[in-house]
Amino acid sequence: MAKLSIRELDLKGKRVFMRVDFNVPLNDALEITDDTRIRASLPTIKLAVERGARLILASHLGRPKGKPNPTMSLRPAAERLSQLLGKPVTFAADCVGPEVGAQAAGLRDGDVLLLENLRFHPEEEKNDAGFSKQLAALAQVYINDAFGSAHRAHASTEGITRCLSPCAAGLLMERELEYLGKAVQNPERPYIAIVGGAKVSDKIELLQNLMKFADGVLIGGAMAYTFLKAQGVEVGKSRVEDDKLDLARDLLQFAERRSIKLHLPTDHVVAEKLDPSAKGEVVSTVQIPSDRLGVDIGPATRAVYAGEVARAKTIVWNGPMGVFEIDQFAEGTLAIARAVAASSAVSIVGGGDSVAAVHKAGVAEKISHISTGGGASLEFLSGLKLPGVEALTEK
Ligand code: 3PG
Repeated sequence: MAKLSIRELDLKGKRVFMRVDFNVPLNDALEITDDTRIRASLPTIKLAVERGARLILASHLGRPKGKPNPTMSLRPAAERLSQLLGKPVTFAADCVGPEVGAQAAGLRDGDVLLLENLRFHPEEEKNDAGFSKQLAALAQVYINDAFGSAHRAHASTEGITRCLSPCAAGLLMERELEYLGKAVQNPERPYIAIVGGAKVSDKIELLQNLMKFADGVLIGGAMAYTFLKAQGVEVGKSRVEDDKLDLARDLLQFAERRSIKLHLPTDHVVAEKLDPSAKGEVVSTVQIPSDRLGVDIGPATRAVYAGEVARAKTIVWNGPMGVFEIDQFAEGTLAIARAVAASSAVSIVGGGDSVAAVHKAGVAEKISHISTGGGASLEFLSGLKLPGVEALTEK
């Protein structure tokens, strides 16, 4: 990897500003319902503490639109982090200002301070130079471990790197870039990409980029119906982006020109409506009734897709195969999750829904790499440069 790593820095006695992604879900009682993202940065935080850094952690949580909002405070994250680290974590009531400055200045080697939500200030998302400077003034070294936010050019991910040096990647950031980077640049073959979800329009660049490198692409989810309709198939009431039919045709031709095997479902679970009370029924592609919509890939498609997955050496999966939130329409997505888990390939899963699916299937520990970045992994796999990564110091 071409970026400087935290492993290469002497942190003893230095005030270190570490951008983490603690954008965790909270319930109405403001309790953290999933602390995966906090746990994912623990190795980096522990390394900094062990090396005697005076650690200042900063993150956003939710989208408070530039105003303080008690329901999006990072205080619960400070408590959880303290439990996980087994040591006190001080919480700062703001992320800039004289009080925070004093708290940062008072840190001793190995101390940890978590700042309040960066997005309580509109300047964060505006990547305001003055705000970046204020954040940078707290510290001497910058570490970015927030892969999940690396696609955002914000003050704490991009602007601050102009004011501090060195700027290094944390261990989570490194791991994400290593797995995703290998899938993009140097995959072991056969390389199979599985792409699902509702809309083709959300994943145009992803599909185009994957088709440049992958040996096969397996399509599922509602987006399959836009492709099928583009081929002239009668898809009943299935969700279709009618304004994207030309685009779907272009993508099909793109795949053909590049001799990529682009698989579309050959059978489907269809239902009258998208409702937990609706009954599913299996039909082939040519039999989709006019009053039904596709809600999952069918058993024959699952078997074909599982076969492709079984022969792969690299697998990238983004997006569910059906409406997996509804149990009777989840089987296709779960079958793919199990097939990916059973394969000996390097498997990478990104995107909130597919990550939720591998957890629902109980196979998360069998996946080589579950990305902590939804939007960030999508952009990276689409071949886009992530500003938060680009801004880091070269090795
Ligand atoms: C995420 O949850 O994908 C990241 O934390 C980024 O959040 P954002 O989409 O609100 O910028």
